[in-house]
Amino acid sequence: MPSILILYYSRTGNTEKMAQAVAAGARTVQRVEVELTYHVEPENLSSFDAILVGVPTYHHDMTVDIKSLFEEAAEKRISLKGKIGAAFGSYGWSGEAPRLVLEIMQNKFEMRIIDPPLLVKYTLDSAGLERCRVLGRTVAERLMM
Ligand SMILES: Cc1cc2nc3c(=O)[nH]c(=O)nc-3n(C[C@H](O)[C@H](O)[C@H](O)COP(=O)(O)O)c2cc1C
Repeated sequence: MPSILILYYSRTGNTEKMAQAVAAGARTVQRVEVELTYHVEPENLSSFDAILVGVPTYHHDMTVDIKSLFEEAAEKRISLKGKIGAAFGSYGWSGEAPRLVLEIMQNKFEMRIIDPPLLVKYTLDSAGLERCRVLGRTVAERLMM
């Protein structure tokens, strides 16, 4: 069964709500396994067919645990080539983090990324919620093709 990892970091809960909505969207597609978590070991990344990362922007950057995960995966030469990658996150005014994640996915790991990243300013409203659900569903449907 195809599997999707939805990995997120969230300090004040905004990106967490996005991640939950992305997972809900992905779970509308049958026969796709969806794991929603805030922690994964780099060695386990390769067991998923799609990796969606939720990361808020703090100080114009991605958060350190997401950055460390990718650094460690690169050091350990974990292969993610050809897997689907997507990024989303809450932000306040500049919102760089999801774009930075996509660049690593594409340039370092040769993943097939979904561009552009999904950004929501601060808290999730109903339009943002729907965009998150659509992202999850789109990735899940793509895995079934
Ligand atoms: C100390 C601090 C630094 C921040 N730096 C940025 C920033 O550089 N760019 C930006 O767009 N938002 C910035 N924000 C806003 C956060 O991205 C925003 O509050 C977001 O909703 C947090 O998501 P979370 O609830 O998932 O942690 C900052 C917030 C704080 C508290």
